[in-house]
Amino acid sequence: MIRSTFFVGIIVLLGALKAQEVPASLTNIHYDAEKKLYWFKDGERKLWEQPRPARYTVDQFVNGITGTENGLAFDFGDTSLNGTLYYGLIPYGDGKYAIPVWFNRSVKIEKGLAEVDIRKTLSGTYDMTGWVEKRFGVLGYRIATATGALLYDGKIEFSAVDKFKPENTIIDGPFIDMVTENSAFLSFTTNKECEPFVVVGANEYKLTKAKYHELFLNDLKPETVYKYSVNVAGTFHEHHFRTAPKKGSNRKFTFAYASDSRAAQGGGERSLYGANVYIMRKIMALAAYKNVDFMQFTGDLINGYAYDPEDNRLQYRNWKNAVQPFAANFPIYETMGNHEGLHTRFVDPDQASRWIRVDRFPYDSLSAGKVFADEFVNPVDPMLLSEDGSIYDPSKTTTDFPSYSENAYHFTYGNTAMIVLNSNYWFGPDVRKEKYLSGNPHAYIMDNQFDWLKGMVHFYERDTSIKHIFVTVHTPMFPNGGHSGDDMWYAGNNAVRPRIAGKETQFGIIERRDQILEVLVNKSKKVRAVLTGDEHNYNHLVINPEMEIYPPNWDKPKISLKRTIYQINNGAAGAPYYAQEKLPWSKYCKSFTTRNALVFITIDGDKVEVQTINPDTLEEIERFSIN
Ligand SMILES: [Fe+2]
Repeated sequence: MIRSTFFVGIIVLLGALKAQEVPASLTNIHYDAEKKLYWFKDGERKLWEQPRPARYTVDQFVNGITGTENGLAFDFGDTSLNGTLYYGLIPYGDGKYAIPVWFNRSVKIEKGLAEVDIRKTLSGTYDMTGWVEKRFGVLGYRIATATGALLYDGKIEFSAVDKFKPENTIIDGPFIDMVTENSAFLSFTTNKECEPFVVVGANEYKLTKAKYHELFLNDLKPETVYKYSVNVAGTFHEHHFRTAPKKGSNRKFTFAYASDSRAAQGGGERSLYGANVYIMRKIMALAAYKNVDFMQFTGDLINGYAYDPEDNRLQYRNWKNAVQPFAANFPIYETMGNHEGLHTRFVDPDQASRWIRVDRFPYDSLSAGKVFADEFVNPVDPMLLSEDGSIYDPSKTTTDFPSYSENAYHFTYGNTAMIVLNSNYWFGPDVRKEKYLSGNPHAYIMDNQFDWLKGMVHFYERDTSIKHIFVTVHTPMFPNGGHSGDDMWYAGNNAVRPRIAGKETQFGIIERRDQILEVLVNKSKKVRAVLTGDEHNYNHLVINPEMEIYPPNWDKPKISLKRTIYQINNGAAGAPYYAQEKLPWSKYCKSFTTRNALVFITIDGDKVEVQTINPDTLEEIERFSIN
């Protein structure tokens, strides 16, 4: 989240005025006299909003900690929660990455309560951080249910002068984001309101009293390593980051690419309430080991598909906790997939299996994109605000769509530009099954975003300091395994398209795919590859003029591609796998694997090299050049 922008302020203000209204972009949704929300197709049964409060929240796992004579007591605020609390000291300063070193015993969680006797268990030969002498330490804790399901990994700073006392603690971050040649954005959240002390290089900052803290650093020098330190109690969180090369510089650099890290089977950390933390940790460790300049992560970070924003927030927190030790040192650019979805669900009271979903509103506080933007720091492009103002906008004077702020954007690094799309904007997963429902189907790039993409590619084509453009989008243009029934293909069904205020848009999903191809392939010499996910496997596809890309009965104009680009699909960051399917373009699909994967793209002047490594085994999957 970026608090300090003009645009965020404007959007919040407009939204506040519209609070209890149904956006004009939707259809057949109304409030009854008691302000209960329903969906009603004339002459049919009413489907009622079904609230689904979050089962667990971040707050309940971080707020109920108190000091005792000999340690800390935890009250997780849920008398039905029984299980295990794992714990261990976090040795800040011992190495670059502070992660809990689990103690050799655990305690029980009974009726939501647990107690750790720090004095007895973590003293003597188990006190590697020197907390007894310093009278200060940091405890990591992990909440597991009675069946072994992992819910949350937390940390708490504590003092131990006489009694033990929980202290101000950074519970999210610090993260470094949006590192440019002369600026960077530092952010973190504390358990309590406090005034953190931050040192960056030779500068010191005392931040204002708050829980969420951000610091925009500018006047930095290009290609320079900056050490920084954040302090909210007794611990100095020491990290560093490296600024980008000057725009247009041909300095060699590497970035990492992956997507789809939602929870999987296999037990343990492969499912830490919403995310596959096992693979994400390994991905980040490998990315750090390879000294990447940044990471691009394109959607389906978590299971999501929730109703209550607190549900998605806990899952995002688990993902962020997994990447944080590394993401304090280099930026991750995230965007959304379908699983970031946050939906109002309308259910038929007599037929529970009959339900429909729309992106939650009011959009300024509850849309999937807004909650996503709250949780991550990514660029805001004032040239792409929302789908308001498109030819389908039902009301020119009101805000009828969610914001693209921090979920569709672009940035540059050296001689390279990245355009980040959101193909699950205003996502309505059931828009296909119910023709009286408005929304955007999975994978469709709506008009304003498409026009913006066209403008961005045109802009970077003319920018002589940029040699390479990458476009990233969660959903492949050409699915190869797992999503042939949707993505930008829908088994060849071009009828799929958004419905806005009850009206279908002019272009179907395959036409829109072709329009995107026209921009990326025919109107561009610099777009090298489209980085995709959604399909939980790794492969690359050589998109080329010979490729068959239409269903047999296609009666619309066909595009003829003038050059070759790549589609690199890496949805192999931990979500459950899909095998390869047979599609018209399959013979151009290379190196298909269901192994976990992390893609490294190295830019060296004019050259682009791709190397893909399995983060679990460190085995190289493949290596190829693009040019
Ligand atoms: Fe997906």
